[in-house]
Amino acid sequence: MRPTRLASLALLVLMLGVDEVTGLGLDSRPNFVLIMVDDLGIGDVGCYGNHTIRTPNIDRLALEGVKLSQHIAAAPLCTPSRAAFLTGRYALRSGLASSGRVPVLLFLAGSGGLPPTETTFAKRLQKQGYTTGLVGKWHLGVNCVSRGDHCHHPNQHGFHYFYGLPFTLFNNCVPGQPVDVLADVEQVLRSLSQLLGLALLTLVCLRALGLLSVSVGLLVALTCLTAGGVAVWYVPFCFLQTWNCIVMRNQEVVEQPLVMETLAERMLNEAQHFISRNAHQPFLLFFSLAHVHTPLFNSPAFAGKSHHGVYGDNVEEMDWIIGQVTETVDSLGLANNTMMYFTSDHGGHIEDPQRGGWNGIYKGGKAMGGWEGGIRVPGIFRWPGRLPAGRVVDQPTSLMDLYPTLRHLAQDTEADRPLDGHDLMPLLEGRSRRSEHQFMFHYCGSYLHAVRWQPPDCDSVFKVHYVTPIFSPAGTGGCSDQEFCSCYGDHVTSHDPPLVYDLLHDPTESRPLSPANERRFAEVLRRVDEAVAVHRGTLPGGHLTEGTLNEGPVTGGPRTKGPEHGVPNQMSWDHILWKPWLQPCCGTFPFCGCQDNSRPPG
Ligand SMILES: *[C@@H]1O[C@H](CO)[C@@H](O)[C@H](O)[C@H]1NC(C)=O
Repeated sequence: MRPTRLASLALLVLMLGVDEVTGLGLDSRPNFVLIMVDDLGIGDVGCYGNHTIRTPNIDRLALEGVKLSQHIAAAPLCTPSRAAFLTGRYALRSGLASSGRVPVLLFLAGSGGLPPTETTFAKRLQKQGYTTGLVGKWHLGVNCVSRGDHCHHPNQHGFHYFYGLPFTLFNNCVPGQPVDVLADVEQVLRSLSQLLGLALLTLVCLRALGLLSVSVGLLVALTCLTAGGVAVWYVPFCFLQTWNCIVMRNQEVVEQPLVMETLAERMLNEAQHFISRNAHQPFLLFFSLAHVHTPLFNSPAFAGKSHHGVYGDNVEEMDWIIGQVTETVDSLGLANNTMMYFTSDHGGHIEDPQRGGWNGIYKGGKAMGGWEGGIRVPGIFRWPGRLPAGRVVDQPTSLMDLYPTLRHLAQDTEADRPLDGHDLMPLLEGRSRRSEHQFMFHYCGSYLHAVRWQPPDCDSVFKVHYVTPIFSPAGTGGCSDQEFCSCYGDHVTSHDPPLVYDLLHDPTESRPLSPANERRFAEVLRRVDEAVAVHRGTLPGGHLTEGTLNEGPVTGGPRTKGPEHGVPNQMSWDHILWKPWLQPCCGTFPFCGCQDNSRPPG
């Protein structure tokens, strides 16, 4: 080694030594353990008012930390909500807000996903020297143009380590469960392929009867086309378990199809290992649970133990897992320099009462962008070294706030793109009493359904609904006729004038305001319309067609294009549908299959 190198090495050692003594520099930055549960309703948690379900471990985090009572997801479904969470920006900005039928990624081998150009908080923290890991569900795409390019993969989005589901749990992961969202899409594809077949049959008959003079070659070609059509359109639906339900460790498929029975245990084990092998350096763990999405787990230790059926059992198991992770943090002596966070990606799925998902007093649920039940989720921060114990923050906060909060705490001061979230530390520490979110925009896909406004001069939180879903069957609180509510078209009602509620006095959104009972009514509409116009000015113009954002009642005038032109729409059919050449596979495609015998590293 050359002397200059040696000198700088010595200097480095010296600096690190000084750090240790003063507690400054690298070591004063906290670790992060972010826990996100899938489809959990705010009413499913003890410390949010549920007295019959047992969630002592989540309740303990709230007791030892700060509980947010108005914590809002940026979207009411997995893919867009998670995109917004990771990037600190509405999903529309990354092309993951759907304007069509399909609101989430449906196939692991589709080409849509979180674009490589996006920046996640993991990527930012990685740049700051953090070791970053994702254990669990991703659901933001894998490949773009070829199997193994992994352009959307967590490893490309700032996570050094990934173990878990690049897709999500869904019903098809367990044979015999009712089909998920795909049911009607499958129906459409099946009809299409049948139509193709019928057309071919007609041709063959006509030829046989001598009424048509086509060559045998043409018929063979048509037959191949039909067979190909059937294969491409329909076959993917027959092998959904293999195509979608897989476990990856970093870039490698380690299990296909996944084994539900051991999944929860393996994921917990991975999360714990990640924490303990990185205990000596700043780390970020995003633990994204497969609970409590369907199909539900049936773990012997929890089956039949809760008062709320299989769903309740799953909530209690999830709570136990969180307790184990907390225990790992505490027993390694990391509690005082680890910020733990607990949330759900959106409201509970209320359409199937057998499966559960309870949003407490709030109206609506999963897939409803405007109603509180779709977007108000639990939010808890625990960091004994820094945050007060037992504080409750009632101010509006967003899942998108994590990005700037993490950046701030990781001492990341480099210029970044404009964000939709705000640093939460002033609220969490009690240095500030007001949220920086004066307005929040509540999207359903790419459609703006509602806006909330907390005027700076009062405590009311007004919510203005431009569009609401039409419940079916009528009178119920959801859309059980369609699995879940759709965001546009015949499935929604547009309101002009909009429906307005004051969430402070009417959190269940059951008493609409009017000029007669609210003196600020006109002002609320005007201020919100103005805010929408300003907000639209900052949106990407590229992929949005006219009418993508509901125009009608909003007086914002023609949509001005923002600075971020041409964000490719990741949710078009072309990006959603199964592409065999993108299918992650262990073995030789299409004969994919393997069982996970691997162990966490280290
Ligand atoms: C508690 O959660 C369960 C499971 O979702 C639900 O069925 C029940 O109604 C909830 N109870 C209360 C009091 O909120």
